[in-house]
Amino acid sequence: MSNNTSSGDAVKFAYWVPNVSGGLVVSTIEQRTDWSLEYNQKLAQTAERAGFEYALSQIRFTAGYGAEYQHESVSFSQALLHATTKLKVLAAILPGPWNPAVVAKQLATIDHISNGRIAINVVSGWFKDEFTAIGEPWLEHDERYRRSKEFIQALKGIWTQDNFTFRGDFYRFTNYTLSPKPVQKPHPEVFQGGSSRAARDNAASVSDWYFTNGNTPENLKAQIDDIKAKAAKNNHQVRIGVNAFIIARDTEEEAKAVLDDIIENAHIEAVNAFGDAVKQAGKASPEGEGNWAKSTFEDLVQYNDGFRTNLIGTPEQIAERIVELKSIGVDLVLAGFLHFVEEVEYFGNKVLPLVRELEARQREKAAA
Ligand SMILES: Cc1cc2nc3c(=O)[nH]c(=O)nc-3n(C[C@H](O)[C@H](O)[C@H](O)COP(=O)(O)O)c2cc1C
Repeated sequence: MSNNTSSGDAVKFAYWVPNVSGGLVVSTIEQRTDWSLEYNQKLAQTAERAGFEYALSQIRFTAGYGAEYQHESVSFSQALLHATTKLKVLAAILPGPWNPAVVAKQLATIDHISNGRIAINVVSGWFKDEFTAIGEPWLEHDERYRRSKEFIQALKGIWTQDNFTFRGDFYRFTNYTLSPKPVQKPHPEVFQGGSSRAARDNAASVSDWYFTNGNTPENLKAQIDDIKAKAAKNNHQVRIGVNAFIIARDTEEEAKAVLDDIIENAHIEAVNAFGDAVKQAGKASPEGEGNWAKSTFEDLVQYNDGFRTNLIGTPEQIAERIVELKSIGVDLVLAGFLHFVEEVEYFGNKVLPLVRELEARQREKAAA
């Protein structure tokens, strides 16, 4: 397998860590994917060899719509870091159950242990029943994001300053000095995502990376332009990652047949239940533009609208579409797969080298 290390402006690749059971599609189709540590360690090693730079863990406290078993994200991220040498692992954190002092301390230690390879995905929450189950207050949509913003400001403050003092509505710190600080300078990368106005505004002011659900290039461009314009006003730099459920096969027919199979075998009750919960979340943002606000039944068969990005086809088609995404401002593709280990391997062998070739050609053209 080739080791496709990317140069500075190259698209980066992340994969979803299957640390919850049931795979990434709500379908009864066979998914040769497993939530166990053993499977995930092998996957992480395969992914870093294949040219993936990041792995994204998920956080779930309770079952929902098929994800019956869920390994905790920070502990699991650490186990994956132990099994790898280059991969950066993103621990998913929910403000509410986690407090920024604990996260700052935990992640600083993991950063030391892993030689600077931990990152964080701050998720603002969409699953009300989960919060109710664990006795966490469920804030209104935009309040959840206001809390996430303070969470990120506090985290960055603790990681970079001595005698950190912060007076927020949700968090307070007084002359706090974390020792040791993380290895990564200025601090481990902070990802955060959604689609709503509030999620985009946080991206344009405090996050290092914005993650969003799968979508068409036109819709993604509108989101990215909006964020970049606001970020420029705030004098803030943010990079963009987009979800995609990738089905790469030798022929387009084969790839499309797999998608048809996934949808034909959709677990209808589970998809509808998931749809009800996330549609509430999507509509809950005042402007009604949240993730899933416009998702169809078919979109919802993949938890984060990953079919919409349309990375489904031959390696050539997928590589071209990835480069098109790059041209509208996408810096990272977050990939989900049906059969993770084998498809990550295929992606590394067949798709990634084509992406790098197309990027090299573009660079030559630009230099000519
Ligand atoms: C790439 C990505 C990963 C996410 N991971 C998680 C997760 O692990 N756990 C979780 O509860 N929510 C997760 N979310 C949900 C978001 O934090 C957010 O609550 C949701 O996208 C709704 O946002 P919106 O209403 O602002 O559009 C994720 C979202 C995205 C785009």
